[in-house]
Amino acid sequence: MSGAPAGAATRSWRLRGPATVSGAVGVPGDKSISHRALLLGAMAHGTTAIHGLLQGEDCRTTMAALRALGVEVAESPDGTLCVHGRGPEAWREPESVLDAGNSGTTLRLLAGVLAGRPFCSLLTGDGSLRRRPMRRIVDPLRAMGATVLGRAQGGFPPLAIGGGRLGGIAWRSPVASAQVKSAILLAGLQAAGETSVTEPLLSRDHTERMLSAFGLVPRRDGTTVTVPGGRRLTAAALTVPGDLSSAAFFLVAAAAGGPGELCVRDVGVNPTRTGLLDVLERMGAEVRRERGRVVGGEPVADLVVRGRGLRGVRVGAELIPRLIDEVPALAVAAALADGETVISGAAELRVKEVDRLSAVAEELGRMGAAIAATEDGLCIRGRAPLRGAAVSSRGDHRMAMSLAVAALFADGETVVRDVACADISFPGFARVLAETAPACGIREETAGV
Ligand code: S3P
Repeated sequence: MSGAPAGAATRSWRLRGPATVSGAVGVPGDKSISHRALLLGAMAHGTTAIHGLLQGEDCRTTMAALRALGVEVAESPDGTLCVHGRGPEAWREPESVLDAGNSGTTLRLLAGVLAGRPFCSLLTGDGSLRRRPMRRIVDPLRAMGATVLGRAQGGFPPLAIGGGRLGGIAWRSPVASAQVKSAILLAGLQAAGETSVTEPLLSRDHTERMLSAFGLVPRRDGTTVTVPGGRRLTAAALTVPGDLSSAAFFLVAAAAGGPGELCVRDVGVNPTRTGLLDVLERMGAEVRRERGRVVGGEPVADLVVRGRGLRGVRVGAELIPRLIDEVPALAVAAALADGETVISGAAELRVKEVDRLSAVAEELGRMGAAIAATEDGLCIRGRAPLRGAAVSSRGDHRMAMSLAVAALFADGETVVRDVACADISFPGFARVLAETAPACGIREETAGV
């Protein structure tokens, strides 16, 4: 979503600070794991039952694309979702363009599968997604034998994919990106021979873990992962844990507030995702993991956070893949901490749903934060007093929710504009915030534009 189209209604949140969070909350299912459950279920043979799937817009987009490709996806009233897979061979040429909406994961992972299908597919997205770089998947898929065309020599969507017989490759990705890695692996599952991907730092490994649940255990050697081609995947029963990236907003609010405790139940704590927890601890917060267990190959725990007064911290490139989506929320924590925080090696944030480095610096700046974007990160001098202001998500879901958290610590009323995008990853966010921080009095308003 790249902002509401002219003539459409825009939704805003109106809330006021100061307000603290406390109690216990649950968050929706993990977005990355939900996409993979749908896609791998559709590539497998048999019925994959998925519990706790994220019912956000991005995942509904993946579901709609799979249906357009002839895959049967059934939703039952208790929220369980069944994907009736008959192998990728049963996918059929879509009659129209596949619209991935705002979802980079849908477009890039689907492109990987479609590269191995012997038909033509057209993939596009909204204004934001059409500005996001695609050469990172187009180059390896071409090297495997697929024909891929796109704007600017394959640089941007729409993409046209002429798939077919693929050969395995050993690909060295210049970026640590789970979307790139997964696109190549999903193509590799259909290729002749083995396919391996080496990345500069390990990105989230949900695809690799879930493949094991479907009966194919990828080989790992450092940051290289290898899959064999031509193996049949067998349907699995899956439970999706809560999304740490959605929990992040409440964890930051608790860590920067206090002295009360907040518990977020049933959150995925895969070590490739938990960078924010490490950083909040380094900043001085108490972060406890309770009832730790493994569900479907993914570690899960209840997270309990108590604020104790935060201090600024340095976050370098080696940590970025483990907290890539949490940087806007982390910036809010930094704005409330004693001293300076410097985040570097995060240039990837410039090619997310929006340029998140500029967006977070400018919007938090409107609230009084002393924050500047650098070429590849952020520099934040903490404890500049925050004041209520009119700010905008710019159509980016993680921006919308980070700004709402900042508003809890601002003096007076804040209006966060253009918040419909929060439904992408966290439908019901405002309701959960109202329960955990009742003093903020959050109200959703709709206005024509
Ligand atoms: C995702 C990977 C990350 C992340 C995105 C979801 C995934 O993107 O930012 O929100 O599900 O694979 P990159 O892999 O491009 O860094």
